[in-house]
Amino acid sequence: MSGLSHWQLDGSAPELYERYLVPAITAKWAADLVERAAPRPDDKVLDVACGTGIVARLASQRARSGRVTGLDLNSGMLAVARKVSGNGGAIEFIEGSALDLPFASGAFEVVLCQLGLQFFPDRRKALREMRRVLSPGGRVAVSVYSPIEKTPGAHAFVDALDRVLGSEASKIKRGEHSFRTPRELEELLRDAGFAGVKVNTVVQRIAFPSVLDYVRFQLLATPMAALLADRPDSERQAVIREVASEVTDLSAAAMLEGGTFSFPQEGYVGTASAASH
Ligand SMILES: C[S@@+](CC[C@H](N)C(=O)[O-])C[C@H]1O[C@@H](n2cnc3c(N)ncnc32)[C@H](O)[C@@H]1O
Repeated sequence: MSGLSHWQLDGSAPELYERYLVPAITAKWAADLVERAAPRPDDKVLDVACGTGIVARLASQRARSGRVTGLDLNSGMLAVARKVSGNGGAIEFIEGSALDLPFASGAFEVVLCQLGLQFFPDRRKALREMRRVLSPGGRVAVSVYSPIEKTPGAHAFVDALDRVLGSEASKIKRGEHSFRTPRELEELLRDAGFAGVKVNTVVQRIAFPSVLDYVRFQLLATPMAALLADRPDSERQAVIREVASEVTDLSAAAMLEGGTFSFPQEGYVGTASAASH
Protein backbone atom coordinates (compact mmCIF):
# COMPACT_ATOMS: atom_id res chain seq x y z
CA MET A 1 0.00 0.00 0.00
CA SER A 2 1.51 3.35 -0.92
CA GLY A 3 1.47 6.31 1.42
CA LEU A 4 0.13 9.76 0.82
CA SER A 5 3.33 11.45 -0.25
CA HIS A 6 1.69 13.66 -2.91
CA TRP A 7 -1.67 14.21 -1.16
CA GLN A 8 -2.03 17.35 0.90
CA LEU A 9 -4.08 16.64 4.00
CA ASP A 10 -4.49 20.15 5.29
CA GLY A 11 -7.83 21.79 4.64
CA SER A 12 -11.45 21.52 5.68
CA ALA A 13 -13.64 18.55 4.71
CA PRO A 14 -15.22 20.52 1.79
CA GLU A 15 -11.75 21.53 0.56
CA LEU A 16 -10.53 17.92 0.68
CA TYR A 17 -13.77 16.79 -1.00
CA GLU A 18 -13.15 19.19 -3.90
CA ARG A 19 -9.43 18.41 -4.14
CA TYR A 20 -9.63 14.61 -4.06
CA LEU A 21 -13.12 13.12 -4.22
CA VAL A 22 -14.41 15.35 -7.03
CA PRO A 23 -11.65 14.43 -9.54
CA ALA A 24 -11.64 10.76 -8.54
CA ILE A 25 -15.41 10.24 -8.36
CA THR A 26 -17.99 12.96 -8.85
CA ALA A 27 -16.44 14.66 -11.91
CA LYS A 28 -16.98 11.39 -13.80
CA TRP A 29 -20.66 11.26 -12.83
CA ALA A 30 -21.03 14.98 -13.59
CA ALA A 31 -19.72 14.61 -17.15
CA ASP A 32 -22.25 11.84 -17.77
CA LEU A 33 -25.16 13.73 -16.18
CA VAL A 34 -24.52 16.97 -18.06
CA GLU A 35 -24.08 15.07 -21.33
CA ARG A 36 -27.50 13.42 -20.85
CA ALA A 37 -29.27 16.70 -19.98
CA ALA A 38 -27.41 18.54 -22.78
CA PRO A 39 -28.03 22.15 -21.68
CA ARG A 40 -28.36 24.55 -24.63
CA PRO A 41 -26.35 27.79 -24.80
CA ASP A 42 -29.13 30.04 -23.49
CA ASP A 43 -30.71 27.62 -20.99
CA LYS A 44 -31.11 28.56 -17.35
CA VAL A 45 -29.77 25.62 -15.32
CA LEU A 46 -30.21 24.68 -11.65
CA ASP A 47 -27.85 22.25 -9.87
CA VAL A 48 -29.64 20.96 -6.72
CA ALA A 49 -27.39 19.68 -3.88
CA CYS A 50 -24.48 21.18 -5.83
CA GLY A 51 -21.85 20.51 -3.15
CA THR A 52 -18.63 22.15 -4.34
CA GLY A 53 -20.23 22.80 -7.73
CA ILE A 54 -18.74 20.32 -10.21
CA VAL A 55 -22.05 19.79 -12.07
CA ALA A 56 -22.78 23.53 -12.19
CA ARG A 57 -19.31 24.20 -13.61
CA LEU A 58 -19.65 21.61 -16.36
CA ALA A 59 -23.16 22.84 -17.17
CA SER A 60 -21.93 26.43 -17.44
CA GLN A 61 -19.51 25.37 -20.19
CA ARG A 62 -22.59 24.55 -22.29
CA ALA A 63 -25.14 27.10 -21.08
CA ARG A 64 -22.74 29.90 -21.97
CA SER A 65 -25.22 32.69 -22.43
CA GLY A 66 -27.80 31.32 -19.99
CA ARG A 67 -27.51 31.34 -16.22
CA VAL A 68 -26.36 28.55 -13.93
CA THR A 69 -27.37 28.38 -10.27
CA GLY A 70 -26.15 25.91 -7.64
CA LEU A 71 -28.08 25.25 -4.44
CA ASP A 72 -26.98 23.34 -1.34
CA LEU A 73 -27.74 23.19 2.38
CA ASN A 74 -24.10 23.19 3.42
CA SER A 75 -22.42 26.61 3.65
CA GLY A 76 -18.93 25.04 3.79
CA MET A 77 -19.45 23.24 0.48
CA LEU A 78 -20.84 26.45 -1.06
CA ALA A 79 -17.85 28.50 0.10
CA VAL A 80 -15.53 26.11 -1.77
CA ALA A 81 -17.88 26.10 -4.78
CA ARG A 82 -17.67 29.90 -5.01
CA LYS A 83 -13.89 29.91 -4.60
CA VAL A 84 -13.25 27.19 -7.20
CA SER A 85 -15.74 28.61 -9.67
CA GLY A 86 -14.14 32.07 -9.60
CA ASN A 87 -15.58 35.39 -8.58
CA GLY A 88 -16.72 36.35 -12.06
CA GLY A 89 -20.30 35.56 -11.13
CA ALA A 90 -20.93 33.16 -14.03
CA ILE A 91 -22.49 30.73 -11.55
CA GLU A 92 -24.57 31.83 -8.59
CA PHE A 93 -24.40 29.62 -5.49
CA ILE A 94 -27.31 29.83 -3.07
CA GLU A 95 -27.80 28.26 0.36
CA GLY A 96 -31.17 26.51 0.61
CA SER A 97 -33.08 23.27 0.86
CA ALA A 98 -33.99 20.97 -2.02
CA LEU A 99 -37.36 20.54 -0.30
CA ASP A 100 -38.27 24.20 -0.61
CA LEU A 101 -36.52 25.68 -3.63
CA PRO A 102 -36.31 29.48 -3.38
CA PHE A 103 -37.18 30.02 -7.05
CA ALA A 104 -40.27 30.99 -9.05
CA SER A 105 -42.19 28.26 -10.87
CA GLY A 106 -40.88 27.68 -14.40
CA ALA A 107 -37.60 29.51 -13.74
CA PHE A 108 -35.25 26.93 -15.34
CA GLU A 109 -34.97 24.93 -18.55
CA VAL A 110 -32.73 22.28 -16.95
CA VAL A 111 -32.56 20.94 -13.37
CA LEU A 112 -29.71 18.62 -12.38
CA CYS A 113 -29.26 16.75 -9.12
CA GLN A 114 -26.19 14.56 -8.69
CA LEU A 115 -25.79 12.11 -5.79
CA GLY A 116 -28.04 14.15 -3.50
CA LEU A 117 -31.55 12.69 -3.71
CA GLN A 118 -30.74 9.74 -1.44
CA PHE A 119 -29.98 12.15 1.42
CA PHE A 120 -33.18 14.18 1.24
CA PRO A 121 -35.66 13.51 4.07
CA ASP A 122 -38.57 13.74 1.60
CA ARG A 123 -37.52 12.63 -1.89
CA ARG A 124 -41.02 13.05 -3.36
CA LYS A 125 -41.23 16.63 -2.21
CA ALA A 126 -37.77 17.42 -3.59
CA LEU A 127 -38.67 15.99 -7.01
CA ARG A 128 -41.98 17.89 -7.05
CA GLU A 129 -40.02 21.05 -6.31
CA MET A 130 -37.62 20.30 -9.18
CA ARG A 131 -40.58 19.90 -11.50
CA ARG A 132 -42.23 23.08 -10.25
CA VAL A 133 -39.19 25.22 -11.05
CA LEU A 134 -38.86 23.76 -14.57
CA SER A 135 -40.42 25.54 -17.53
CA PRO A 136 -42.85 23.44 -19.64
CA GLY A 137 -40.71 21.06 -21.69
CA GLY A 138 -37.76 21.57 -19.32
CA ARG A 139 -35.48 18.61 -18.54
CA VAL A 140 -34.39 17.01 -15.30
CA ALA A 141 -31.43 14.64 -14.80
CA VAL A 142 -30.89 12.95 -11.44
CA SER A 143 -28.28 10.42 -10.29
CA VAL A 144 -28.05 8.16 -7.24
CA TYR A 145 -25.85 5.20 -6.35
CA SER A 146 -27.26 1.68 -6.64
CA PRO A 147 -27.01 -0.97 -3.85
CA ILE A 148 -23.60 -0.99 -2.20
CA GLU A 149 -22.95 -4.61 -3.22
CA LYS A 150 -22.64 -3.31 -6.81
CA THR A 151 -19.72 -1.08 -5.80
CA PRO A 152 -17.19 -3.50 -4.33
CA GLY A 153 -14.73 -0.91 -2.99
CA ALA A 154 -17.46 0.85 -0.99
CA HIS A 155 -18.83 -2.51 0.14
CA ALA A 156 -15.45 -3.60 1.52
CA PHE A 157 -15.09 -0.17 3.15
CA VAL A 158 -18.39 -0.36 5.09
CA ASP A 159 -17.66 -3.90 6.25
CA ALA A 160 -14.23 -2.76 7.44
CA LEU A 161 -15.75 0.24 9.23
CA ASP A 162 -18.16 -2.04 11.05
CA ARG A 163 -15.29 -4.27 12.17
CA VAL A 164 -13.17 -1.40 13.45
CA LEU A 165 -15.74 1.11 14.76
CA GLY A 166 -18.85 -1.00 15.34
CA SER A 167 -21.99 -1.63 13.34
CA GLU A 168 -23.37 1.93 13.59
CA ALA A 169 -20.33 3.44 11.92
CA SER A 170 -21.17 2.68 8.31
CA LYS A 171 -24.73 4.02 8.39
CA ILE A 172 -23.97 7.21 6.46
CA LYS A 173 -22.09 5.37 3.70
CA ARG A 174 -24.73 2.65 3.42
CA GLY A 175 -27.37 5.42 3.25
CA GLU A 176 -25.66 6.78 0.11
CA HIS A 177 -26.58 3.47 -1.55
CA SER A 178 -30.17 3.24 -0.35
CA PHE A 179 -31.83 3.02 -3.79
CA ARG A 180 -32.41 -0.67 -4.43
CA THR A 181 -33.59 -0.71 -8.07
CA PRO A 182 -33.75 1.61 -11.11
CA ARG A 183 -37.51 1.25 -10.86
CA GLU A 184 -37.53 3.03 -7.50
CA LEU A 185 -36.11 6.16 -9.13
CA GLU A 186 -38.37 5.74 -12.16
CA GLU A 187 -41.50 5.63 -9.97
CA LEU A 188 -40.43 8.62 -7.90
CA LEU A 189 -39.92 10.69 -11.06
CA ARG A 190 -43.31 9.62 -12.46
CA ASP A 191 -45.07 10.31 -9.13
CA ALA A 192 -43.60 13.80 -9.18
CA GLY A 193 -45.38 14.38 -12.51
CA PHE A 194 -42.47 14.01 -14.92
CA ALA A 195 -43.00 12.62 -18.43
CA GLY A 196 -40.68 10.59 -20.66
CA VAL A 197 -38.97 9.05 -17.64
CA LYS A 198 -35.91 6.95 -18.41
CA VAL A 199 -33.49 5.46 -15.89
CA ASN A 200 -30.15 4.00 -16.98
CA THR A 201 -27.86 1.83 -14.88
CA VAL A 202 -24.41 3.35 -15.33
CA VAL A 203 -20.99 2.15 -14.20
CA GLN A 204 -17.95 4.37 -13.70
CA ARG A 205 -14.46 3.01 -13.02
CA ILE A 206 -13.08 4.60 -9.86
CA ALA A 207 -9.36 4.60 -9.05
CA PHE A 208 -7.39 5.82 -6.03
CA PRO A 209 -3.61 5.62 -5.72
CA SER A 210 -4.00 3.22 -2.78
CA VAL A 211 -6.54 1.74 -0.36
CA LEU A 212 -5.19 4.10 2.30
CA ASP A 213 -5.95 7.11 0.12
CA TYR A 214 -9.51 5.94 -0.51
CA VAL A 215 -10.20 5.27 3.18
CA ARG A 216 -8.55 8.46 4.34
CA PHE A 217 -10.64 10.69 2.11
CA GLN A 218 -13.86 8.87 2.89
CA LEU A 219 -13.16 9.51 6.58
CA LEU A 220 -11.84 13.07 6.29
CA ALA A 221 -13.71 14.67 3.39
CA THR A 222 -17.30 13.43 3.76
CA PRO A 223 -19.93 13.58 6.53
CA MET A 224 -18.22 10.45 7.92
CA ALA A 225 -15.56 12.80 9.27
CA ALA A 226 -17.95 13.25 12.22
CA LEU A 227 -17.10 9.69 13.31
CA LEU A 228 -13.55 10.68 14.21
CA ALA A 229 -13.97 14.42 14.78
CA ASP A 230 -13.38 14.43 18.54
CA ARG A 231 -10.33 12.16 18.49
CA PRO A 232 -6.74 13.46 18.57
CA ASP A 233 -5.06 13.41 15.18
CA SER A 234 -2.70 10.52 16.05
CA GLU A 235 -5.66 8.35 17.04
CA ARG A 236 -7.62 9.40 13.93
CA GLN A 237 -4.70 8.37 11.70
CA ALA A 238 -4.39 5.04 13.54
CA VAL A 239 -8.09 4.25 12.96
CA ILE A 240 -7.75 5.21 9.28
CA ARG A 241 -4.77 2.84 8.92
CA GLU A 242 -6.66 0.05 10.67
CA VAL A 243 -9.75 0.47 8.44
CA ALA A 244 -7.49 0.54 5.36
CA SER A 245 -5.81 -2.67 6.45
CA GLU A 246 -9.22 -4.34 6.91
CA VAL A 247 -10.32 -3.12 3.47
CA THR A 248 -7.14 -4.61 1.99
CA ASP A 249 -7.93 -7.95 3.66
CA LEU A 250 -11.51 -7.85 2.38
CA SER A 251 -10.74 -6.64 -1.14
CA ALA A 252 -10.57 -9.01 -4.04
CA ALA A 253 -7.21 -8.94 -5.76
CA ALA A 254 -8.99 -7.44 -8.77
CA MET A 255 -9.39 -4.18 -6.86
CA LEU A 256 -5.67 -3.81 -6.30
CA GLU A 257 -4.41 -3.26 -9.83
CA GLY A 258 -0.74 -2.36 -10.11
CA GLY A 259 -0.75 -0.78 -6.66
CA THR A 260 -3.91 1.28 -7.24
CA PHE A 261 -7.29 0.69 -5.63
CA SER A 262 -9.69 0.50 -8.53
CA PHE A 263 -13.26 -0.78 -8.77
CA PRO A 264 -16.53 -0.29 -10.66
CA GLN A 265 -19.04 2.11 -9.10
CA GLU A 266 -22.65 1.65 -10.14
CA GLY A 267 -25.43 4.23 -10.14
CA TYR A 268 -28.85 4.99 -11.59
CA VAL A 269 -29.19 8.04 -13.80
CA GLY A 270 -32.73 9.23 -14.49
CA THR A 271 -33.83 11.72 -17.12
CA ALA A 272 -37.32 13.11 -17.72
CA SER A 273 -39.16 16.19 -18.84
CA ALA A 274 -41.72 18.53 -17.32
CA ALA A 275 -44.35 18.18 -20.01
CA SER A 276 -46.71 20.81 -18.58
CA HIS A 277 -47.82 22.11 -15.21
C1 LIG B 1 -22.47 13.56 -2.09
S1 LIG B 1 -22.68 15.30 -2.06
C2 LIG B 1 -22.87 15.59 -3.82
C3 LIG B 1 -22.45 16.98 -4.17
C4 LIG B 1 -22.36 17.28 -5.66
N1 LIG B 1 -23.64 17.15 -6.32
C5 LIG B 1 -21.32 16.41 -6.32
O1 LIG B 1 -21.71 15.54 -7.12
O2 LIG B 1 -20.11 16.56 -6.04
C6 LIG B 1 -24.34 15.53 -1.46
C7 LIG B 1 -24.73 16.99 -1.22
O3 LIG B 1 -26.11 17.04 -0.90
C8 LIG B 1 -26.31 18.16 -0.05
N2 LIG B 1 -27.63 18.04 0.58
C9 LIG B 1 -28.04 17.07 1.43
N3 LIG B 1 -29.32 17.29 1.80
C10 LIG B 1 -29.73 18.42 1.16
C11 LIG B 1 -30.97 19.15 1.10
N4 LIG B 1 -32.03 18.76 1.80
N5 LIG B 1 -31.02 20.27 0.34
C12 LIG B 1 -29.95 20.68 -0.38
N6 LIG B 1 -28.76 20.02 -0.37
C13 LIG B 1 -28.65 18.91 0.39
C14 LIG B 1 -25.14 18.06 0.90
O4 LIG B 1 -24.90 19.25 1.61
C15 LIG B 1 -24.00 17.68 -0.06
O5 LIG B 1 -23.32 18.82 -0.53
